[in-house]
Amino acid sequence: MSTGIPPHIPPERVVEFDRFNAPQLQSCPHQQVSALFERSPDLFYTTGDRGHWVVGRAALARDMLRQPDKFSSDPVHNPANARHPPTLPNQCDPPLHTGLRRIINPFFSPAGIQHLEDDVRALAVRLIEAVLSQGHCEFVSQVAQVFPVELFMRMAKAPLDDREMLIAKVARFTRAPQIADRLAALNELGDYLQVLIAEREAAPGTDLISLVVQAQVEGRPLTADEKRGMVTLLFLGGLDTVTAMLSFIMAYLGQHPEQWQRLVQAPALIDHAIEELMRVHGVAGTERGVTRDMVYAGVSFKAGDRLVFPAHIYGLDPQMVEDPLRVDFDRPVSNHLVFGAGPHRCVGSHLARLEIKVFLQEWASRVPVFSVDAQGDLPTRGGLVWSPEAVPLVWPAGPASTSVGQAAP
Ligand code: HEM
Repeated sequence: MSTGIPPHIPPERVVEFDRFNAPQLQSCPHQQVSALFERSPDLFYTTGDRGHWVVGRAALARDMLRQPDKFSSDPVHNPANARHPPTLPNQCDPPLHTGLRRIINPFFSPAGIQHLEDDVRALAVRLIEAVLSQGHCEFVSQVAQVFPVELFMRMAKAPLDDREMLIAKVARFTRAPQIADRLAALNELGDYLQVLIAEREAAPGTDLISLVVQAQVEGRPLTADEKRGMVTLLFLGGLDTVTAMLSFIMAYLGQHPEQWQRLVQAPALIDHAIEELMRVHGVAGTERGVTRDMVYAGVSFKAGDRLVFPAHIYGLDPQMVEDPLRVDFDRPVSNHLVFGAGPHRCVGSHLARLEIKVFLQEWASRVPVFSVDAQGDLPTRGGLVWSPEAVPLVWPAGPASTSVGQAAP
């Protein structure tokens, strides 16, 4: 492992930023990291996390993510990001990528997820009611971590009896302090999903896993590795991301009662407001490998250079949004890149929006007043997905109203 700076990197483009351990990630990461990036070159190189470029501006990122022939998702061009088997469809390029996305796009389209809304709502209500009468909760572990896992189980028609076991494994995978423990949990999750894959191969149904195992790509069935890679990413892609986004949003609303009151008084505003809340609370990024030596945006790249795109903060780029740290439910929806850009743009974006919208609607109708029960800034963690460590919430316990739009006085 080399931590040196390759000879083609000009010293003026080197900035210290370790995306796992940078001090800016320990609290208020959106404000702190975007402030660092504003002071840094648009494209800079860091020795952190085995050395890579960082694309610090939204417009550049959008342009680069739209050019997979130059900036590839295939680990062949970015060995530091190799996984076995590769997670799909995110670790391949067109044309294979186009074929794999065609399999799952209809399931996750706005029309495709409509039938999930009742399940999402029932789940949100059950989770809220489980904590409602106690007047407080630790939101990340008691609500936000459970919500997307259970939703995936419903989409995959996985036995709900496995719920607690799966939630525990996912929590170990995303939060265990030791990397060895996290990788062990990932393998156990892969083995669990492999059993479901085998079951659906033997007796296909109408669920998401059956869709993947029966599909064809480029005129042939998927290989065993492709099936496992697809099912694994469809499972993991929507877990930590939704958990983290919902946790950041609830922390923000608990710290800004005037903004929460607007949503409680006018729940129809939630649909629009979540775009603004997501813009300032990006949680995930991505990476690419440079396919050939080239000069792009005035920078000389070598084939195999690694590029990291912190999409977490592109919504805060002042070149894209005026006064970006101000959360303004009345501004027009911005093209925020929180779900990426180009062919790999998040397939689950409509589902994520649905989960967050429905959750806020149901919370608004039951918890008209709440706050964060902590002094100072909440501790957060960096890495691939940024998240608050914990979000202690508190609210007046007691009988609550039960329908959206009828907030208690
Ligand atoms: C707030 C929640 C979410 C955020 C912030 C988010 C973010 C992202 C981003 C930035 C990408 C682009 C990766 C790249 O360019 O390489 C992506 C891709 C992806 N996301 Fe999400 N995601 C979220 C929720 C979900 C959900 C609910 C699912 C459900 C299955 C999902 C599944 C995926 C998959 C499968 C990909 C790979 C798409 C491809 O490579 O074509 N995500 N996501």
